[in-house]
Amino acid sequence: MPNKKTLKKTKKPVSVEPKEELVLQPPRGMRDILPGDQPYWQQVRKITEKAAADFGYRRIDIPLVEFTNLFARGIGTGTDIVEKEMYSFNTKGGEKVSLRPEFTAGIARAYIQHGLHVASKPVKLYYTGPCYRYERPQEGRYRELFQFGCEALGENDPIIDVQIIQMGWRIIHQLGIRNVTVNVNSIGCPACRKSYRNLLVSYFESKKQKLCIDCRRRLEKNPLRILDCKEDKCVQVKMNAPQSIDHLCDECRVHFKELLEYLEELEIPFELDPTLVRGLDYYTRTVFEFFPHAGAEEKKKSALGGGGRYDGLVRSMGGEDTPAVGFSLGLDRLVLEMKKLGVRTYKEQKPRVFLAQLGIFAKKKSLRMFEALERSGIMVAESFGRGSLKSQLKVADRLRVELTLILGQKEAIDGTVIIKDMASGNQEIINGDKLIDEVKKRLKMGGMVVRNQ
Ligand code: HAM
Repeated sequence: MPNKKTLKKTKKPVSVEPKEELVLQPPRGMRDILPGDQPYWQQVRKITEKAAADFGYRRIDIPLVEFTNLFARGIGTGTDIVEKEMYSFNTKGGEKVSLRPEFTAGIARAYIQHGLHVASKPVKLYYTGPCYRYERPQEGRYRELFQFGCEALGENDPIIDVQIIQMGWRIIHQLGIRNVTVNVNSIGCPACRKSYRNLLVSYFESKKQKLCIDCRRRLEKNPLRILDCKEDKCVQVKMNAPQSIDHLCDECRVHFKELLEYLEELEIPFELDPTLVRGLDYYTRTVFEFFPHAGAEEKKKSALGGGGRYDGLVRSMGGEDTPAVGFSLGLDRLVLEMKKLGVRTYKEQKPRVFLAQLGIFAKKKSLRMFEALERSGIMVAESFGRGSLKSQLKVADRLRVELTLILGQKEAIDGTVIIKDMASGNQEIINGDKLIDEVKKRLKMGGMVVRNQ
């Protein structure tokens, strides 16, 4: 019997409206990734992880939920992401938190919190996982989206920027997406951006009537973002706007010049894009995006990834001065593009052996036999729930296995197994102790553990 104290502590269960209709789909902009699509995702996982290892990046996992002000401070209060797109809520304890709309702010937080700066620089980290943005869903734009990204913290040299671009470019290529260009720009440092910003404001002020409502608002808060607007009328206006690369300070100009030279050295096709400013406030100097070769309109919607330098972010969060650069790839978009291009993924592994059983004793023994075969690297299929041998053999036929092992009541008692070659139809009884060797011999697996490729 609970005492009074424990009774008092018991919380009321969350009330659920029993009659509310059950909607059999996830919230808008979110989706299931079904088994049929998994080979693409698996390919993306394999290639991104291999590239991370090749370039010396180590994995970091950060929480899906962080304090809202981390994103507000890191990404910027005037950005669309923070202003309109975050999934924010108060916890039962009254904390204001948000689902991460991206990783970089959280990585910078973790870098400071765990004193990761003590390691030799640059500190190279990679991550992968879902992010959440309350955007208007369309093809390639989701509210739950998956990213893979890399961040190199503690190095100022533009060679790191280029290595980061090289890595993203290589991953996209290795996924079979060959027609990709990198758009690059430099938006300068806070010092040179200030005067550029003023120039931009006076230019757009003079054309204010021709701008969309959002851009008129941006003129006050975040004028650089007008350059990124896709509205037709704003596109016209921005064509003659002053360009940041013409107003860089000496240091930023040298940084950008070297970056372009390195890109040329690597023969990575790039385009200078003076309107590329990116939608997050932490960027300084280099910004870039990867685009598939598509129509101009298509292209603007479908960046496969992007990134840039964010030399002031760690400092702005209370850490030491830490130049940094990184990128994230949109995995949903990579998969979409691979499918559009008909890229071949790896073949799913197929079982080469089927294990059939008949009778209660044989059924029990087949569980162990299945495990022994699997442990030896032999991929086995079964249909344990089916009673009749005929229906099990039908499954074996459908799976086009090379061998079927049949364990009946008699074989289970004798310690033997019937082994059937599916091509010839020949059957043979073999001793259970020799099963693994016998199967390997017939599958020509030799001493090595080989699975069907
Ligand atoms: P971002 O450009 O906001 O940058 O996102 C990177 C990529 O994520 C985009 O290029 C796109 O492929 C994908 N993406 C973004 N939003 C969506 C969406 N709603 N649906 C599907 N895919 C989407 C960042 O997130 C920065 N943190 C990148 C970075 C890392 N900068 C420095 N380090």
